[in-house]
Amino acid sequence: MTLDGKRILLGVTGGVAAYKAAELARELQRAGARVQVVMTEAATRFVTPATFQALTGEPVFSDQWDARIDNNMAHIELSRRADAIVVAPATADFMAKAAQGLCDDLLSTLCLARDCPLLMAPAMNRQMWSHPATQRNARQLAADGVTLLGPDSGDQACGETGAGRMLEPLDLIEEIIAFFAPKRLAGHHVLLTAGPTFEPIDPVRGITNLSSGKMGFALARACRHAGAQVTLVAGPVTLATPRGVARIDVQTAQQMHDAVMAELDAAPAAGAPRPDVFIAVAAVADWRIANPSRSKLKKTDEQSVPTLSFTQNPDILAGVARRADAPYCVGFAAESEDLEANGAAKRQRKGVPLLVANIGHATFGRDDNELLLIDADGQRRLPRAGKNALAAALVEEIARRLPVARRPA
Ligand code: C5P
Repeated sequence: MTLDGKRILLGVTGGVAAYKAAELARELQRAGARVQVVMTEAATRFVTPATFQALTGEPVFSDQWDARIDNNMAHIELSRRADAIVVAPATADFMAKAAQGLCDDLLSTLCLARDCPLLMAPAMNRQMWSHPATQRNARQLAADGVTLLGPDSGDQACGETGAGRMLEPLDLIEEIIAFFAPKRLAGHHVLLTAGPTFEPIDPVRGITNLSSGKMGFALARACRHAGAQVTLVAGPVTLATPRGVARIDVQTAQQMHDAVMAELDAAPAAGAPRPDVFIAVAAVADWRIANPSRSKLKKTDEQSVPTLSFTQNPDILAGVARRADAPYCVGFAAESEDLEANGAAKRQRKGVPLLVANIGHATFGRDDNELLLIDADGQRRLPRAGKNALAAALVEEIARRLPVARRPA
């Protein structure tokens, strides 16, 4: 869980996207947050307070004069307890009020009487969003330090298509987690490989392995939360691309190698640094079929079996580590015996400063893991945890080890 212990005041205003705020309340809790809902009067016409009360287990407030607050100071008490106020959906009307500092109801008052961050997820018809007044208000809110999440583009409840849709609850959760994450990798560009590779035998068959890609994808997500630009070269997996991560899909080890080298060779785009950290999480096939058949191999009779001959695949990690302009390289290892000695030897052989060994067997496909970090100074364990939590811990470890020259000023 990545919002552990955080107290979120979820403000719901009167737009049709209010129904999605119910799912957001649930997802916030699933991520470890405690959620207190405050609704505007108009919001209660779309979703009843009872829905949020049942989901959060907390009373829902909408009236500034609510007698349930002991000292009758709801506008101060509620925001004082919060680590952040998240207004989702934020209507054009609510944005306009907040941009002007108006406070004629409980939620707008809380947005003024706060010392915690304020985040807003705009949700409105595309013409309302693109109207110069709303754009002016959005700029004003940003200038006042308010974080705007979205809006998205796409189908709208009114039947039109365009910018103004509220971000989906799962995307909002990603943005909120990212908002709270320490920006230990700000200014860095992290390149990762993840998942298995697939080496063809013929057009319909091939050799692969059981890597799910979960650890590599969790790390890509954690790097992005930590403020890095992230490029993920992924073998064939069924995982969704983490929000904000650039993904390049490949099949074979050779394609993965070529994609990684192309990223390192590419002229950096304006304002985007070259990859300066490389994390090789992929379970890359050591060998490929020397001559894959162009047509499907046919079973001619019961006795004959095909003979496959293999050739070596390039070692992507070792190749990157050998480059004169090598980024800071992190390797992974899945050793079945004598983890510490074999891990240390592998670190030397690959020529990388940090090697991360999976402790125990059968990490493939699981949601948790246990890691042993091996560097020039020795070894350190990261105890068993979910892959997301481990990924966040590993990002901290990597950020601490980056040579001073690679740390942003
Ligand atoms: O040699 P071994 O496969 O055990 O090394 C594992 C590490 O090397 C992982 O970080 C993996 O992503 C990387 N690797 C690679 N290219 C290969 C084989 C492994 O980048 N051909």
